[in-house]
Amino acid sequence: MVNGSGPPAANACVPGRPLRRVKIASLATFVPPRVLTNKDLEEMVDTSDEWILQRTGIRERHIVDPGMATSDLATEASREAIARAGITPDDIGFIVVGTTTPDTVFPSTACLLQNKIGASRAWGFDLGAACSGFAYSLSVGAQMVASGAHEHALVVGADVMSSIIDYTDRATCVLFGDGAGAVVVSPSEDDSLGILDFEHRVDGSGGPALCMPAGGSRLPASFETVEKRLHYVKQDGQSVFKFAVRSTEEICRRLLEKNNLTAADVNLFVSHQANRRIIESAADRLGMDRAKVVINIERFGNTTAGTIPLALNDVITDGRLKKGDLIILTSVGAGFTVGSILVRWAY
Ligand code: ACO
Repeated sequence: MVNGSGPPAANACVPGRPLRRVKIASLATFVPPRVLTNKDLEEMVDTSDEWILQRTGIRERHIVDPGMATSDLATEASREAIARAGITPDDIGFIVVGTTTPDTVFPSTACLLQNKIGASRAWGFDLGAACSGFAYSLSVGAQMVASGAHEHALVVGADVMSSIIDYTDRATCVLFGDGAGAVVVSPSEDDSLGILDFEHRVDGSGGPALCMPAGGSRLPASFETVEKRLHYVKQDGQSVFKFAVRSTEEICRRLLEKNNLTAADVNLFVSHQANRRIIESAADRLGMDRAKVVINIERFGNTTAGTIPLALNDVITDGRLKKGDLIILTSVGAGFTVGSILVRWAY
């Protein structure tokens, strides 16, 4: 079962059908081949490899070539995740794509992805939660399978952040990269393994601290919005930093306490990768052993909805994540959105 902070398990979505335990059955990721290093950025803005590395932990990030969009990255990751789950695209009943950089405002990237992978029986939609896009999408996809509404859900976190980054603004352009991850969520045969619980919240008062001012209904695209560079990410880095550290600690502590667990019970702390210092500060405040903290920001930067699957992919590949391990996934994103999910790894 997947509980979350709402009503407990008896409240099934399909009348009369109890919630069932669900698991991440497979995972795959994709990043575009082109690499943008800190040295490259030194040629573009007034910055240095040393500053970026010290303040953020980032060495390089992957960036698309012109013409490549979010659904292209999502398609690569999704095809591989479906194959690794040992199912076919026709077995997918539901698709959710966490993204801040959809190919187009409409149709949704989920619709484009459904068509590209040939998931002929699936419906789905995009989910806007910025850097919490993957965590929120995973909770939604899990509920669709837990309720019995679908046997298999495809959950994607994908972003082409380079499409909304101002490469003349040194305060933001050094932080982000492009990437995607996809998981298949399926029923778990073993009730002790799978997605155990989640805890999410939103603090909408933080909206102005991290946003893209134009391009929506409030400020539609115009010559003026383009001239004022309002179609790019704007942020108050320090207030985002402080909120991220504080709220990551709070949400993880609440989720652990709700499940009668402590940091000592957790095998791996898999955080959204926004800044090495944010991740380490939050983990320290939680009393999480640094050896359990997964960090790969040095190779990918902040890929927004892509970071958690990219981090999971690394620990699956290098053998740090094993069947039966208890892991906590956590993120903070624009909104502000805050999320955390407790998973007993199932493969
Ligand atoms: N290269 C060199 N100097 C820089 C750069 C750069 N790329 N960017 C900023 N600076 C300068 C500033 O201009 C400032 O100079 P000043 O003192 O002369 O005014 C100085 O460095 C310090 O700037 P701060 O903003 O105080 O630096 P800070 O240590 O806070 O680091 C950073 C900035 C990295 C943006 C940090 O605040 C941060 O990571 N914030 C979180 C933002 C974030 O991750 N957003 C992403 C999405 S949200 C999320 O995922 C949680």
